[in-house]
Amino acid sequence: MSSANWLERETSVLSPGMRLPFFPLVIKEAKGEIIRDHDNNEWIDFLSSACVTNTGHAHPFIIEKMKAQLDQLVHYNPAYASHEQIVSLSEELIRITPGSFPKRVTFGLSGGDANDTAIKLARSYTKRSKIIAYTRSYHGNTYGALSISAVSLPMRKNMGPLLPDVYHIPFPDVYRSPFHSEEESKRCILAIEHLFETVCPPEEVAAIIIEPIQGDSGVLVPPQSYINALKQLTAKHGILIVADEVQTGFGRTGEWFASTHFQLEPDLIVLGKAIASGMPLSAVVGRSEIMNSVEPPSGAFSLAANPVACAAALATIQVIEDEDLVSRSNLLGQYIQGYFLRLQEKFEMIGDIRGKGLMIGIDLVEDRNSKIGSSSMAAKICWRCWEKGLFLTFFSGSVLRIAPPLTISEASLEKGLRNIEEAIKDVQQGRVSDEVLDRVKGW
Ligand SMILES: Cc1ncc(COP(=O)(O)O)c(C=O)c1O
Repeated sequence: MSSANWLERETSVLSPGMRLPFFPLVIKEAKGEIIRDHDNNEWIDFLSSACVTNTGHAHPFIIEKMKAQLDQLVHYNPAYASHEQIVSLSEELIRITPGSFPKRVTFGLSGGDANDTAIKLARSYTKRSKIIAYTRSYHGNTYGALSISAVSLPMRKNMGPLLPDVYHIPFPDVYRSPFHSEEESKRCILAIEHLFETVCPPEEVAAIIIEPIQGDSGVLVPPQSYINALKQLTAKHGILIVADEVQTGFGRTGEWFASTHFQLEPDLIVLGKAIASGMPLSAVVGRSEIMNSVEPPSGAFSLAANPVACAAALATIQVIEDEDLVSRSNLLGQYIQGYFLRLQEKFEMIGDIRGKGLMIGIDLVEDRNSKIGSSSMAAKICWRCWEKGLFLTFFSGSVLRIAPPLTISEASLEKGLRNIEEAIKDVQQGRVSDEVLDRVKGW
Protein backbone atom coordinates (compact mmCIF):
# COMPACT_ATOMS: atom_id res chain seq x y z
CA MET A 1 0.00 0.00 0.00
CA SER A 2 1.30 3.49 -0.84
CA SER A 3 2.11 6.19 1.69
CA ALA A 4 -0.83 8.22 0.36
CA ASN A 5 -3.21 5.34 1.07
CA TRP A 6 -1.93 4.95 4.62
CA LEU A 7 -2.39 8.67 5.23
CA GLU A 8 -5.91 8.58 3.86
CA ARG A 9 -6.80 5.73 6.21
CA GLU A 10 -5.12 7.51 9.11
CA THR A 11 -7.21 10.67 8.64
CA SER A 12 -10.36 8.83 9.71
CA VAL A 13 -8.84 7.18 12.79
CA LEU A 14 -6.14 9.36 14.36
CA SER A 15 -6.71 12.43 16.50
CA PRO A 16 -5.10 15.44 14.78
CA GLY A 17 -3.52 16.58 18.05
CA MET A 18 -0.74 14.06 17.52
CA ARG A 19 0.84 15.43 14.35
CA LEU A 20 2.41 18.73 13.35
CA PRO A 21 1.55 19.80 9.80
CA PHE A 22 4.80 19.20 7.93
CA PHE A 23 5.07 16.52 5.23
CA PRO A 24 3.00 13.55 4.01
CA LEU A 25 5.56 11.09 5.35
CA VAL A 26 4.74 7.49 6.26
CA ILE A 27 7.95 5.79 7.32
CA LYS A 28 8.33 2.16 6.41
CA GLU A 29 11.89 1.69 7.59
CA ALA A 30 14.82 3.68 8.90
CA LYS A 31 18.48 2.81 9.29
CA GLY A 32 21.26 5.13 10.40
CA GLU A 33 20.40 8.58 9.02
CA ILE A 34 18.23 7.29 6.16
CA ILE A 35 14.45 7.01 6.29
CA ARG A 36 12.29 5.33 3.63
CA ASP A 37 8.57 5.53 2.91
CA HIS A 38 6.15 3.01 1.40
CA ASP A 39 6.89 4.18 -2.12
CA ASN A 40 10.65 3.57 -1.80
CA ASN A 41 11.47 7.26 -1.49
CA GLU A 42 14.50 8.04 0.66
CA TRP A 43 15.40 11.00 2.85
CA ILE A 44 18.42 11.98 4.90
CA ASP A 45 17.10 12.64 8.38
CA PHE A 46 18.12 16.06 9.75
CA LEU A 47 15.58 15.82 12.58
CA SER A 48 16.52 12.53 14.30
CA SER A 49 12.92 11.98 15.31
CA ALA A 50 13.14 15.35 17.13
CA CYS A 51 16.41 14.47 18.91
CA VAL A 52 15.32 10.94 19.84
CA THR A 53 17.64 8.93 17.60
CA ASN A 54 20.99 10.46 18.49
CA THR A 55 22.64 7.10 17.74
CA GLY A 56 20.92 6.87 14.34
CA HIS A 57 17.97 4.67 13.48
CA ALA A 58 18.23 1.01 14.49
CA HIS A 59 21.86 0.99 15.58
CA PRO A 60 22.88 -2.70 15.20
CA PHE A 61 24.46 -2.95 18.68
CA ILE A 62 21.39 -1.45 20.37
CA ILE A 63 19.02 -3.71 18.42
CA GLU A 64 21.12 -6.76 19.37
CA LYS A 65 20.93 -5.87 23.08
CA MET A 66 17.18 -5.25 22.85
CA LYS A 67 16.60 -8.60 21.14
CA ALA A 68 18.63 -10.41 23.79
CA GLN A 69 16.57 -8.72 26.50
CA LEU A 70 13.31 -9.63 24.76
CA ASP A 71 14.30 -13.30 24.96
CA GLN A 72 14.97 -12.96 28.69
CA LEU A 73 12.34 -10.71 30.26
CA VAL A 74 9.85 -8.43 28.50
CA HIS A 75 8.53 -6.62 31.54
CA TYR A 76 7.52 -6.65 35.13
CA ASN A 77 5.82 -3.72 36.86
CA PRO A 78 8.66 -1.95 38.72
CA ALA A 79 6.33 -1.15 41.61
CA TYR A 80 6.34 -4.86 42.49
CA ALA A 81 9.74 -6.25 41.50
CA SER A 82 13.20 -5.23 40.45
CA HIS A 83 15.33 -6.44 37.52
CA GLU A 84 19.01 -6.13 36.72
CA GLN A 85 18.49 -3.55 33.96
CA ILE A 86 16.86 -1.00 36.25
CA VAL A 87 19.80 -1.21 38.66
CA SER A 88 22.53 -1.07 36.01
CA LEU A 89 20.86 1.80 34.18
CA SER A 90 20.38 3.83 37.37
CA GLU A 91 24.09 3.41 38.13
CA GLU A 92 25.02 4.51 34.63
CA LEU A 93 22.73 7.56 34.68
CA ILE A 94 24.21 8.61 38.01
CA ARG A 95 27.70 8.22 36.52
CA ILE A 96 27.14 10.25 33.33
CA THR A 97 24.97 13.11 34.61
CA PRO A 98 26.48 16.29 36.06
CA GLY A 99 26.60 16.64 39.84
CA SER A 100 29.33 15.24 42.06
CA PHE A 101 26.96 14.62 44.97
CA PRO A 102 25.01 11.46 45.90
CA LYS A 103 22.17 10.95 43.42
CA ARG A 104 19.22 8.67 42.81
CA VAL A 105 17.00 7.91 39.85
CA THR A 106 13.31 7.45 39.11
CA PHE A 107 11.81 6.33 35.79
CA GLY A 108 8.86 7.17 33.57
CA LEU A 109 7.83 6.85 29.93
CA SER A 110 8.04 10.29 28.35
CA GLY A 111 9.72 13.64 28.81
CA GLY A 112 6.34 15.06 29.81
CA ASP A 113 5.72 12.66 32.68
CA ALA A 114 9.31 13.05 33.86
CA ASN A 115 8.76 16.81 34.13
CA ASP A 116 5.62 16.15 36.17
CA THR A 117 7.69 13.92 38.43
CA ALA A 118 10.32 16.66 38.82
CA ILE A 119 7.61 19.14 39.86
CA LYS A 120 6.28 16.67 42.43
CA LEU A 121 9.75 15.91 43.80
CA ALA A 122 10.58 19.61 44.10
CA ARG A 123 7.32 20.38 45.89
CA SER A 124 7.56 17.39 48.16
CA TYR A 125 11.16 18.11 49.20
CA THR A 126 10.89 21.87 49.70
CA LYS A 127 7.29 21.83 51.01
CA ARG A 128 6.80 24.86 48.75
CA SER A 129 4.22 25.03 45.98
CA LYS A 130 5.37 27.61 43.46
CA ILE A 131 7.20 26.68 40.26
CA ILE A 132 8.97 29.10 37.96
CA ALA A 133 9.35 28.25 34.30
CA TYR A 134 10.20 30.13 31.13
CA THR A 135 8.25 31.78 28.36
CA ARG A 136 8.67 29.87 25.08
CA SER A 137 9.67 26.68 26.91
CA TYR A 138 8.43 23.24 25.89
CA HIS A 139 8.23 20.51 28.51
CA GLY A 140 5.57 18.12 27.21
CA ASN A 141 1.83 17.52 27.17
CA THR A 142 0.98 15.88 30.49
CA TYR A 143 -0.79 18.36 32.78
CA GLY A 144 2.23 19.39 34.83
CA ALA A 145 4.51 19.67 31.81
CA LEU A 146 1.83 21.52 29.88
CA SER A 147 1.35 23.98 32.73
CA ILE A 148 5.03 24.92 32.75
CA SER A 149 5.30 25.04 28.93
CA ALA A 150 4.71 28.38 27.24
CA VAL A 151 5.49 28.05 23.56
CA SER A 152 2.22 27.12 21.87
CA LEU A 153 -1.35 28.28 22.35
CA PRO A 154 -3.03 25.23 20.74
CA MET A 155 -1.42 23.08 23.44
CA ARG A 156 -3.23 25.05 26.14
CA LYS A 157 -6.43 26.28 24.50
CA ASN A 158 -9.53 24.97 26.33
CA MET A 159 -7.37 22.68 28.47
CA GLY A 160 -7.68 24.56 31.74
CA PRO A 161 -7.55 24.80 34.59
CA LEU A 162 -3.87 24.00 34.50
CA LEU A 163 -1.56 23.48 37.46
CA PRO A 164 -1.77 26.47 39.84
CA ASP A 165 1.23 28.38 41.20
CA VAL A 166 3.24 28.39 37.98
CA TYR A 167 4.99 31.63 36.93
CA HIS A 168 6.75 32.31 33.64
CA ILE A 169 9.84 34.45 33.27
CA PRO A 170 11.68 35.52 30.09
CA PHE A 171 14.47 33.35 28.71
CA PRO A 172 17.45 35.36 27.44
CA ASP A 173 17.24 35.88 23.70
CA VAL A 174 20.57 37.34 22.73
CA TYR A 175 19.74 37.65 19.02
CA ARG A 176 16.42 39.50 19.21
CA SER A 177 17.05 41.49 22.36
CA PRO A 178 17.98 45.11 21.71
CA PHE A 179 20.63 44.68 24.41
CA HIS A 180 24.13 43.30 24.44
CA SER A 181 24.30 39.76 25.84
CA GLU A 182 25.36 40.90 29.35
CA GLU A 183 22.54 43.44 29.44
CA GLU A 184 20.06 40.83 28.25
CA SER A 185 21.26 38.54 31.01
CA LYS A 186 20.71 41.30 33.60
CA ARG A 187 17.28 42.14 32.17
CA CYS A 188 16.15 38.53 32.60
CA ILE A 189 17.52 38.25 36.14
CA LEU A 190 15.78 41.52 37.03
CA ALA A 191 12.53 39.99 35.77
CA ILE A 192 12.90 37.21 38.37
CA GLU A 193 13.71 39.71 41.12
CA HIS A 194 10.71 41.75 40.09
CA LEU A 195 8.54 38.65 40.29
CA PHE A 196 9.86 37.98 43.80
CA GLU A 197 9.10 41.55 44.89
CA THR A 198 5.59 41.72 43.49
CA VAL A 199 3.60 38.52 43.06
CA CYS A 200 5.69 35.51 44.04
CA PRO A 201 7.48 35.38 47.41
CA PRO A 202 10.79 33.53 46.84
CA GLU A 203 10.37 31.54 50.06
CA GLU A 204 7.31 29.91 48.47
CA VAL A 205 9.16 28.83 45.31
CA ALA A 206 10.11 25.16 45.07
CA ALA A 207 12.02 25.18 41.78
CA ILE A 208 12.98 26.94 38.60
CA ILE A 209 12.72 24.61 35.61
CA ILE A 210 15.04 25.47 32.77
CA GLU A 211 16.06 23.98 29.45
CA PRO A 212 19.81 24.77 29.59
CA ILE A 213 19.57 25.46 25.86
CA GLN A 214 15.96 26.27 25.04
CA GLY A 215 14.95 23.98 22.19
CA ASP A 216 11.57 24.48 20.61
CA SER A 217 11.75 28.25 20.96
CA GLY A 218 14.31 27.99 18.15
CA VAL A 219 17.53 26.99 19.97
CA LEU A 220 18.26 29.80 22.43
CA VAL A 221 21.64 29.60 24.16
CA PRO A 222 21.70 31.64 27.38
CA PRO A 223 24.76 33.72 28.28
CA GLN A 224 27.04 32.16 30.91
CA SER A 225 26.49 35.25 33.06
CA TYR A 226 22.76 34.46 33.17
CA ILE A 227 23.31 30.94 34.48
CA ASN A 228 25.85 32.26 37.02
CA ALA A 229 23.37 34.82 38.32
CA LEU A 230 20.57 32.25 38.34
CA LYS A 231 22.70 29.91 40.45
CA GLN A 232 23.34 32.71 42.96
CA LEU A 233 19.72 33.77 43.13
CA THR A 234 18.36 30.26 43.61
CA ALA A 235 21.02 29.44 46.24
CA LYS A 236 20.12 32.62 48.15
CA HIS A 237 16.45 31.63 48.34
CA GLY A 238 16.78 27.85 48.70
CA ILE A 239 15.13 27.29 45.31
CA LEU A 240 15.96 24.10 43.40
CA ILE A 241 17.21 24.17 39.83
CA VAL A 242 15.60 21.56 37.59
CA ALA A 243 17.29 21.11 34.21
CA ASP A 244 15.01 19.74 31.52
CA GLU A 245 17.60 17.92 29.38
CA VAL A 246 15.01 15.89 27.48
CA GLN A 247 16.08 17.44 24.19
CA THR A 248 19.64 18.50 25.01
CA GLY A 249 20.79 15.27 26.63
CA PHE A 250 22.86 12.32 25.46
CA GLY A 251 25.50 14.15 23.46
CA ARG A 252 23.14 16.27 21.39
CA THR A 253 24.89 19.56 22.24
CA GLY A 254 28.49 18.34 22.19
CA GLU A 255 28.53 17.52 25.91
CA TRP A 256 26.83 14.57 27.53
CA PHE A 257 24.41 17.12 28.97
CA ALA A 258 24.01 20.80 28.09
CA SER A 259 24.21 21.85 31.77
CA THR A 260 27.94 21.09 31.57
CA HIS A 261 28.46 23.89 29.02
CA PHE A 262 27.51 26.30 31.81
CA GLN A 263 29.15 24.50 34.76
CA LEU A 264 25.64 23.92 36.05
CA GLU A 265 25.02 21.01 38.44
CA PRO A 266 21.21 20.93 38.61
CA ASP A 267 19.45 19.57 41.68
CA LEU A 268 17.24 17.49 39.38
CA ILE A 269 17.84 16.52 35.76
CA VAL A 270 14.97 15.45 33.53
CA LEU A 271 15.83 12.92 30.80
CA GLY A 272 13.91 11.43 27.90
CA LYS A 273 13.96 11.28 24.09
CA ALA A 274 17.45 9.94 23.17
CA ILE A 275 17.90 8.06 26.44
CA ALA A 276 16.85 4.75 24.87
CA SER A 277 17.24 5.51 21.16
CA GLY A 278 13.50 5.47 20.53
CA MET A 279 12.18 3.08 23.16
CA PRO A 280 9.71 4.75 25.56
CA LEU A 281 11.71 5.71 28.61
CA SER A 282 12.31 8.79 30.73
CA ALA A 283 14.07 9.44 33.98
CA VAL A 284 14.69 12.03 36.66
CA VAL A 285 18.14 11.96 38.23
CA GLY A 286 18.73 14.11 41.28
CA ARG A 287 20.22 14.78 44.66
CA SER A 288 19.55 11.83 46.96
CA GLU A 289 17.91 13.94 49.66
CA ILE A 290 15.34 15.25 47.17
CA MET A 291 14.73 11.88 45.55
CA ASN A 292 14.32 10.30 48.99
CA SER A 293 11.65 12.80 50.05
CA VAL A 294 8.81 10.82 48.45
CA GLU A 295 7.06 7.63 49.50
CA PRO A 296 5.64 4.74 47.47
CA PRO A 297 3.65 4.61 45.29
CA SER A 298 4.09 8.29 44.35
CA GLY A 299 6.60 7.41 41.61
CA ALA A 300 4.94 4.26 40.32
CA PHE A 301 4.14 3.78 36.63
CA SER A 302 3.25 0.22 35.57
CA LEU A 303 5.21 0.37 32.34
CA ALA A 304 8.19 2.46 33.48
CA ALA A 305 11.76 1.17 33.27
CA ASN A 306 10.75 -1.56 30.88
CA PRO A 307 13.75 -3.95 30.73
CA VAL A 308 13.93 -3.82 26.93
CA ALA A 309 13.91 0.00 27.04
CA CYS A 310 16.52 -0.08 29.82
CA ALA A 311 18.69 -2.48 27.77
CA ALA A 312 18.36 -0.04 24.85
CA ALA A 313 19.40 2.82 27.15
CA LEU A 314 22.43 0.93 28.48
CA ALA A 315 23.45 0.08 24.91
CA THR A 316 22.86 3.71 23.84
CA ILE A 317 25.24 4.96 26.53
CA GLN A 318 27.82 2.39 25.46
CA VAL A 319 27.51 3.36 21.78
CA ILE A 320 27.85 7.07 22.60
CA GLU A 321 31.04 6.27 24.53
CA ASP A 322 32.53 3.66 22.17
CA GLU A 323 31.94 5.78 19.07
CA ASP A 324 32.97 8.99 20.81
CA LEU A 325 29.72 10.60 19.71
CA VAL A 326 29.92 13.51 22.13
CA SER A 327 33.11 14.76 20.45
CA ARG A 328 31.63 13.96 17.05
CA SER A 329 28.57 16.08 17.84
CA ASN A 330 30.89 18.93 18.70
CA LEU A 331 33.06 18.60 15.60
CA LEU A 332 30.20 18.20 13.15
CA GLY A 333 28.33 21.04 14.83
CA GLN A 334 31.27 23.37 14.34
CA TYR A 335 31.54 22.30 10.70
CA ILE A 336 27.83 22.99 10.12
CA GLN A 337 27.97 26.40 11.79
CA GLY A 338 30.99 27.26 9.60
CA TYR A 339 29.06 26.17 6.50
CA PHE A 340 26.12 28.42 7.37
CA LEU A 341 28.40 31.33 8.24
CA ARG A 342 29.67 31.16 4.67
CA LEU A 343 26.09 31.01 3.35
CA GLN A 344 25.18 33.97 5.53
CA GLU A 345 27.59 36.12 3.50
CA LYS A 346 25.59 35.29 0.37
CA PHE A 347 22.02 35.15 1.64
CA GLU A 348 20.45 38.11 3.43
CA MET A 349 17.69 35.89 4.79
CA ILE A 350 20.06 34.06 7.16
CA GLY A 351 19.75 36.24 10.23
CA ASP A 352 21.33 34.14 12.96
CA ILE A 353 23.17 30.84 13.34
CA ARG A 354 23.21 29.45 16.85
CA GLY A 355 23.39 26.37 18.99
CA LYS A 356 25.89 23.88 20.26
CA GLY A 357 26.95 20.51 18.94
CA LEU A 358 24.27 19.08 16.68
CA MET A 359 21.49 21.22 18.08
CA ILE A 360 21.58 24.13 15.67
CA GLY A 361 19.04 26.76 14.69
CA ILE A 362 19.23 28.85 11.53
CA ASP A 363 17.00 31.87 12.06
CA LEU A 364 15.55 33.22 8.81
CA VAL A 365 14.55 36.86 8.68
CA GLU A 366 12.71 39.22 6.38
CA ASP A 367 15.64 41.58 6.74
CA ARG A 368 18.60 41.75 9.07
CA ASN A 369 17.62 45.09 10.59
CA SER A 370 14.09 44.29 11.67
CA LYS A 371 15.01 40.65 12.46
CA ILE A 372 11.37 39.77 11.81
CA GLY A 373 11.30 36.00 11.37
CA SER A 374 10.23 34.65 7.99
CA SER A 375 8.12 31.54 8.45
CA SER A 376 7.21 31.50 4.75
CA MET A 377 10.87 31.20 3.74
CA ALA A 378 11.42 28.51 6.36
CA ALA A 379 8.43 26.51 5.08
CA LYS A 380 9.47 26.85 1.46
CA ILE A 381 13.08 25.86 2.12
CA CYS A 382 11.95 22.80 4.08
CA TRP A 383 9.54 21.82 1.29
CA ARG A 384 12.24 22.14 -1.36
CA CYS A 385 14.58 20.03 0.81
CA TRP A 386 11.82 17.43 1.16
CA GLU A 387 11.57 17.27 -2.64
CA LYS A 388 15.33 16.83 -2.86
CA GLY A 389 15.49 13.97 -0.33
CA LEU A 390 16.33 15.81 2.89
CA PHE A 391 13.99 15.66 5.86
CA LEU A 392 14.34 19.12 7.36
CA THR A 393 11.88 20.96 9.61
CA PHE A 394 11.59 24.35 11.27
CA PHE A 395 10.30 25.59 14.59
CA SER A 396 9.59 28.82 16.38
CA GLY A 397 8.11 30.03 13.09
CA SER A 398 11.28 30.86 11.25
CA VAL A 399 14.12 28.67 12.55
CA LEU A 400 15.51 25.78 10.52
CA ARG A 401 16.19 22.89 12.86
CA ILE A 402 19.49 21.19 12.14
CA ALA A 403 19.62 18.07 14.29
CA PRO A 404 20.92 15.04 12.40
CA PRO A 405 21.88 11.83 14.23
CA LEU A 406 25.29 12.08 15.91
CA THR A 407 26.29 9.08 13.80
CA ILE A 408 25.53 10.73 10.45
CA SER A 409 28.13 9.96 7.77
CA GLU A 410 30.15 12.86 6.45
CA ALA A 411 28.81 12.16 2.94
CA SER A 412 25.16 12.41 4.05
CA LEU A 413 25.88 15.52 6.07
CA GLU A 414 27.54 17.19 3.10
CA LYS A 415 24.69 16.17 0.80
CA GLY A 416 22.12 17.51 3.25
CA LEU A 417 23.90 20.84 3.60
CA ARG A 418 24.14 21.19 -0.19
CA ASN A 419 20.41 20.45 -0.44
CA ILE A 420 19.72 23.29 1.98
CA GLU A 421 21.99 25.65 0.07
CA GLU A 422 20.24 24.83 -3.21
CA ALA A 423 16.83 25.15 -1.57
CA ILE A 424 17.72 28.60 -0.20
CA LYS A 425 18.76 29.66 -3.72
CA ASP A 426 15.51 28.32 -5.19
CA VAL A 427 13.44 30.16 -2.61
CA GLN A 428 15.38 33.37 -3.04
CA GLN A 429 14.85 33.22 -6.80
CA GLY A 430 11.11 32.63 -6.37
CA ARG A 431 11.18 29.03 -7.67
CA VAL A 432 9.04 27.63 -4.83
CA SER A 433 5.36 28.55 -5.08
CA ASP A 434 3.21 30.02 -2.30
CA GLU A 435 0.92 26.96 -2.51
CA VAL A 436 3.48 25.15 -0.40
CA LEU A 437 2.49 27.36 2.54
CA ASP A 438 -0.93 25.68 2.76
CA ARG A 439 0.75 22.32 3.16
CA VAL A 440 3.81 22.97 5.33
CA LYS A 441 2.67 24.93 8.34
CA GLY A 442 5.12 23.71 10.95
CA TRP A 443 4.68 25.32 14.34
C1 LIG B 1 12.87 20.09 26.41
C2 LIG B 1 11.76 19.10 26.28
N1 LIG B 1 11.18 18.63 27.39
C3 LIG B 1 10.18 17.74 27.34
C4 LIG B 1 9.70 17.29 26.13
C5 LIG B 1 8.55 16.33 26.10
O1 LIG B 1 8.98 15.04 25.86
P1 LIG B 1 7.92 13.95 25.41
O2 LIG B 1 7.46 14.32 24.06
O3 LIG B 1 8.70 12.67 25.44
O4 LIG B 1 6.83 13.94 26.43
C6 LIG B 1 10.29 17.73 24.95
C7 LIG B 1 9.80 17.26 23.64
O5 LIG B 1 9.98 17.85 22.62
C8 LIG B 1 11.35 18.66 25.02
O6 LIG B 1 11.93 19.15 23.92
